[in-house]
Amino acid sequence: MNAVGHHPGTSTVSRRAVIPLLRRLRSAEGAANPRPVWAALHELGDVVPAPWGGYFVVGFDACNEVLRGRKWQSTDFDWQQRQDNPERWSDLATREMTRTLPRLNAPAHTCQRRAVGTPFDRASLEALRPMIAALISSLLDELEAEIRAEGHADFMRVVGEQLPALSVGEWIGIDRADHAHLLDFTHRQVYAQELLPTRSQLAVSEQATLEMREFFTRLIRERRARPGDDVLTQWIAHFDASSGGDRAAADQIIYDLTMFVTIASLETSAVLLGNTVHLATSDPARAAWLTAHPEHIASTVEEALRWDAPISINSRVASEDLVLAGVPIPRDTTVHVMYGAAAHDPRRNPDPDTFDPLRRGGHLSFGGGPHYCLGAGLARLEAQELLGQVLKRFPTLRAVTPPVFDDTRLVFRRLVSLDVQI
Ligand code: HEM
Repeated sequence: MNAVGHHPGTSTVSRRAVIPLLRRLRSAEGAANPRPVWAALHELGDVVPAPWGGYFVVGFDACNEVLRGRKWQSTDFDWQQRQDNPERWSDLATREMTRTLPRLNAPAHTCQRRAVGTPFDRASLEALRPMIAALISSLLDELEAEIRAEGHADFMRVVGEQLPALSVGEWIGIDRADHAHLLDFTHRQVYAQELLPTRSQLAVSEQATLEMREFFTRLIRERRARPGDDVLTQWIAHFDASSGGDRAAADQIIYDLTMFVTIASLETSAVLLGNTVHLATSDPARAAWLTAHPEHIASTVEEALRWDAPISINSRVASEDLVLAGVPIPRDTTVHVMYGAAAHDPRRNPDPDTFDPLRRGGHLSFGGGPHYCLGAGLARLEAQELLGQVLKRFPTLRAVTPPVFDDTRLVFRRLVSLDVQI
């Protein structure tokens, strides 16, 4: 999702000013609580120079403008080829991502997006609800059994990571026996989408990409041979028909789509699920109030999305000379939209560091404009159903220790563990 380019630019803030803040974000403390760093970024301005060239966009309105504006483009293959260092984009893991939806611009993006349609409209979500509710109920059985036996359990391992794999697995048609492997290579693959991946991170990502390729290629081959009642079967039928007999081209699009949708849904939804349950239950008074007022569960999930955007940063490039929040941005300059910081802009959400389920605040955690998240409805449904069942079943569920976040990533947040008791 992200890209760092080398470009000139002008701003009154020094390019070095942001270095200590990035270091803090990459520390255990910053990963656990990035909010003070976001506040410090807001002090520097809406558009803050990045040390390597390009800019961080932290103001809510400026982020919104970039995501929705037609003149801000995804960092696609053509852009990568125009860089002074095209070799930066040539590793296997990065190349694999370059063909996926978020890295495409119109018309290729429009074409693929149209083919996928609106998979999670209101009617489809209502049809999925009983299946999601049943999955949650059985995962909470497992959580309860482990807590009764051990006194505590890791909510992320038992529930938070499993639910997205089970629901997207049902939708695409992926065997339960494969979920552990799927989660494992997905966690490793996302390093290639970091802002400045190290060589060793790219190597980890490359190995994961090979495993991912093998997995999804086999899955598609088997589904062609034995069609099912799932979305992958529908994509195969659609792209086979629209590719004019070019089976290799159809296979490539189906692979890119299936692989990306899976990664996009696993890495992000788990963070939302863990955060929602933790934020709703960490204060006993809030948990009791929500149990008595389940009508506020949906707005609690929205506040959890605002509080901590699972994808924290995303990049775009200026397709011509532009001005953003008063800062001139030359053509081809990369800007890094900071979703988390945007949602903590005090002009958009006053008193941003207070968690308030009734705030009706604004966030951009699912992006905006042509690339708006395709799975937002499914992620919301999972989080709302999960919180409802947790409150009903375990009214005294609490974290035993503070949640642990991965401090090796800036782009995809990862809630590694959340130890709970009931
Ligand atoms: C809490 C969970 C999730 C979060 C926070 C999230 C966030 C995002 C964000 C920020 C984008 C980029 C938008 C942009 O570039 O402007 C995105 C794109 C996307 N998401 Fe999600 N996502 C989540 C869950 C899911 C799920 C469950 C699926 C699929 C079942 C999914 C599929 C996609 C796809 C396919 C795209 C690319 C859309 C495009 O470029 O046209 N996401 N998501």
